[in-house]
Amino acid sequence: MVSIAVCPGSFDPVTYGHIDIIKRAAKVFDKVIVAVLVNMEKKPWFTIEERTDLLKKVTADIPNVEIVGFQGLLVDFAAAVNADVIVKGLRAVSDFEYEFQMALTNSKLNNSIETVFLTTSAENMYLSSSIVKQVGLLGGDISPFVPECVRDEILLKIKQRSRSK
Ligand code: PNS
Repeated sequence: MVSIAVCPGSFDPVTYGHIDIIKRAAKVFDKVIVAVLVNMEKKPWFTIEERTDLLKKVTADIPNVEIVGFQGLLVDFAAAVNADVIVKGLRAVSDFEYEFQMALTNSKLNNSIETVFLTTSAENMYLSSSIVKQVGLLGGDISPFVPECVRDEILLKIKQRSRSK
């Protein structure tokens, strides 16, 4: 039987932290479908299509990974692609409450899909897309946190934002 995992997130945009989790999930499961979803609590910089395109570029070297954008419930997406599990990265204790709440809600909505957590590697513990965007906005060097193509797109967004003010 082929094991299928859905790795969900808003990925606004993808960082080395996300790539680490996707790569490690791809070693554990036969197929990893990265689902680019809407987080209603966040105001994204990038459209779902832009986030999906960046993810496709930076995971092009991982053969068993597929990137899909979806607007709707994560459990509906997971059921539609016949996923066995939802995989999420857990960075620190601060992530736990929110992730726990989502995992329990998802299992209430569809109890046939399990959520499993991978612990983020130590060097990525502090990384988040919001922090990276903030560092970029304030003129800091974001190259340690994101691949070059992602850095270029963040810098472009920053330019566009400053022009529209
Ligand atoms: O990377 P994020 O922002 O922590 O990911 C959160 C995400 C996008 C996985 C979550 O907001 C989500 O699942 N959104 C899809 C809509 C949904 O299913 N909401 C109920 C989840 S409890």
